[in-house]
Amino acid sequence: MRKSQGWQVLVRGALVVAACLVLGAVTPVHAQATALQNSDCVKCHEAQPQQIEAKGMKHKTAVGCMDCHVGHPPKVSDIVPKCSMCHVGNPHFELPNCGQCHSNAHTPLELNLSGDLKAECITCHAPIGQQLTANPSAHNDVACNFCHADTHGMIPECVLCHKPHSQEMTQKDCASCHQAHKPLLVTYDDKMPSIHCAACHGTAYTQLTANQSKHQSLACVYCHQDKHKMVPLCSDCHGTPHAAGIHQRFPSCGECHNIAHDLNNWPAQAQPKGK
Ligand code: HEC
Ligand code: HEC
Ligand code: HEC
Ligand code: HEC
Ligand code: HEC
Ligand code: HEC
Ligand code: HEC
Ligand code: HEC
Ligand code: HEC
Ligand code: HEC
Ligand code: HEC
Ligand code: HEC
Repeated sequence: MRKSQGWQVLVRGALVVAACLVLGAVTPVHAQATALQNSDCVKCHEAQPQQIEAKGMKHKTAVGCMDCHVGHPPKVSDIVPKCSMCHVGNPHFELPNCGQCHSNAHTPLELNLSGDLKAECITCHAPIGQQLTANPSAHNDVACNFCHADTHGMIPECVLCHKPHSQEMTQKDCASCHQAHKPLLVTYDDKMPSIHCAACHGTAYTQLTANQSKHQSLACVYCHQDKHKMVPLCSDCHGTPHAAGIHQRFPSCGECHNIAHDLNNWPAQAQPKGK
């Protein structure tokens, strides 16, 4: 392995020497001295080398001035490169006006994200575009940067634009029910405190907390699981506990037990007073 590499270097070295000899033979000495180098640009152009130095990012490290600017006036007149000279092959690079956001090629990640942007963002964030259209809501009717304003990657708090449903609720609770890109699909886990449901369901909350049955100590989401507006059947948890004849005659549990939040006829209550 080592040996063959050494051999290659030797051969390359020989080729370079040969090339120099040939060039030296045919190229006049003064033309060699005036060939433009990357290091020459700064002699006449101050701003661009400074910008590249400070914020050139990969345009500083992965390319040099002359990879982009091929030739120089007056010999070559149009030396401003098109981005597509190097960036092709994905939806982002099909956008019509790169300079709209990348306003200076020498500081390529200094972005100007003004105007309503959505199709442009989706060139890279396709799944989020799909999520928004699959779950129609008012959030689908505004631009991405209506929320993600000014700088790329900025994430706003919901409470910047909305009031919480109650005083008990703060920004950190929103995500336990909502996702920004499908805000009307309300889901939650089994740790959701009932007080957050009470923000909109005062009656259910008051009834349940006043009820003396064993339902009282159950959380709303113990019964209404996972997804908002899910309503369980009594028999999901209790089956049909009484004699078949009773269930046949009174098909609705509620005829004797009233409602789940305000149960009648639970065993403790059915017992004679004082016992
Ligand atoms: C000796 C001074 C000098 C050097 C060295 C020099 N330039 Fe220039 N450059 C100029 C002048 C003068 C102009 C304006 C020419 C014109 O507009 O006709 C110019 C114009 C340009 C332009 C604008 C062209 C356009 O079409 O608007 C670019 C780009 C450029 N230079 C890049 C470079 C790069 C890259 C280097 C180094 C490889 C370099 N220059 C080295 C003097 C220089
Ligand atoms: C990645 C490609 C790229 C590199 C690298 C690059 N430039 Fe440019 N340069 C451009 C583009 C594109 C423009 C046209 C204006 C713009 O988009 O900012 C430009 C414009 C210029 C101009 C003309 C500015 C004007 O106002 O007309 C000069 C001068 C220039 N570049 C010099 C340089 C020098 C010097 C370097 C190296 C230190 C350099 N550029 C590196 C792409 C590049
Ligand atoms: C001569 C080739 C060349 C040209 C022309 C060029 N780029 Fe690049 N650019 C590169 C290379 C190489 C990289 C680094 C590898 C990559 O990310 O693809 C790069 C990286 C970038 C980056 C990411 C920078 C980073 O540090 O992550 C942006 C943004 C960018 N280019 C925008 C542009 C825009 C806008 C234009 C047109 C104004 C342009 N480029 C023109 C070669 C070029
Ligand atoms: C609507 C604004 C916008 C437009 C228009 C735009 N870009 Fe971008 N571009 C961005 C954003 C935002 C990023 C992500 C920057 C980051 O990761 O910090 C980016 C990143 C890049 C990158 C680096 C990441 C990568 O995928 O390699 C390159 C290269 C790039 N753009 C090139 C282009 C080119 C070429 C065009 C024109 C065909 C263009 N951009 C048009 C906003 C834009
Ligand atoms: C060139 C591709 C590209 C474009 C265009 C682009 N992004 Fe991004 N974006 C990325 C990458 C890469 C990341 C970082 C990786 C990730 O978290 O997905 C990112 C991350 C983000 C983040 C999350 C930051 C975090 O902390 O998790 C937000 C928000 C974002 N982009 C919004 C936007 C918006 C809004 C637009 C349109 C103005 C946009 N992006 C355009 C590539 C892009
Ligand atoms: C930059 C402002 C902004 C931010 C941030 C924001 N929203 Fe909205 N939201 C709106 C606007 C505008 C509407 C439509 C008008 C309205 O209902 O106020 C809306 C509507 C909604 C709707 C009703 C949707 C419909 O179609 O009726 C819900 C639910 C919602 N937002 C939840 C949230 C949640 C949760 C967050 C945080 C993850 C959030 N919003 C972040 C601006 C915002
Ligand atoms: C109504 C405000 C709003 C709109 C409109 C919006 N977002 Fe978001 N986005 C948020 C919030 C808030 C978060 C934080 C996560 C959450 O609460 O679900 C977020 C998270 C993100 C993230 C990082 C987390 C993730 O899900 O990957 C990206 C990337 C993102 N948004 C891109 C976009 C893009 C692209 C668009 C437009 C197609 C867009 N957003 C539209 C408010 C919004
Ligand atoms: C316990 C779950 C839950 C929590 C926590 C929650 N929401 Fe909601 N939110 C809902 C439900 C349920 C709706 C009504 C959906 C419907 O009408 O079908 C709703 C509706 C909304 C709406 C639409 C307008 C309205 O008031 O009906 C906005 C805006 C909203 N929520 C914002 C927020 C914000 C901001 C937070 C965090 C401070 C938050 N939500 C926390 C469950 C919750
Ligand atoms: C932002 C207000 C809001 C919050 C918070 C909220 N809901 Fe609702 N809920 C509503 C609205 C509005 C309806 C529809 C009422 C109607 O159709 O009469 C509803 C309906 C319901 C229904 C009845 C569905 C039906 O078919 O009759 C159940 C069950 C329900 N919510 C449970 C909950 C639970 C459990 C929580 C807490 C995890 C909760 N809700 C939090 C606003 C809210
Ligand atoms: C033991 C299970 C259980 C618990 C705990 C429970 N529910 Fe219910 N809920 C039900 C059942 C079952 C129904 C259907 C009506 C009936 O048969 O009682 C219902 C109906 C509802 C309805 C629609 C009808 C109405 O009364 O408006 C809402 C809203 C509701 N529940 C909200 C809540 C909230 C909020 C809590 C917590 C404070 C809660 N539930 C706790 C089982 C429960
Ligand atoms: C998600 C499950 C669930 C649903 C749905 C449910 N319950 Fe219960 N129920 C319970 C649990 C848990 C207990 C307490 C059992 C224990 O501790 O022994 C209970 C207890 C009871 C008791 C005895 C109360 C006591 O204090 O001894 C009655 C009666 C009852 N349920 C009736 C109903 C009726 C009627 C419905 C429908 C309107 C219903 N339940 C819906 C879970 C549920
Ligand atoms: C005809 C009236 C009646 C109907 C209909 C009825 N129950 Fe009951 N149930 C009672 C009475 C009375 C008690 C309390 C005495 C007892 O323990 O038997 C009771 C007790 C219960 C208990 C508590 C049992 C225990 O041992 O802790 C549960 C659970 C229950 N019922 C569930 C249901 C369900 C579910 C339905 C509907 C499928 C239903 N009941 C229908 C009258 C009824």
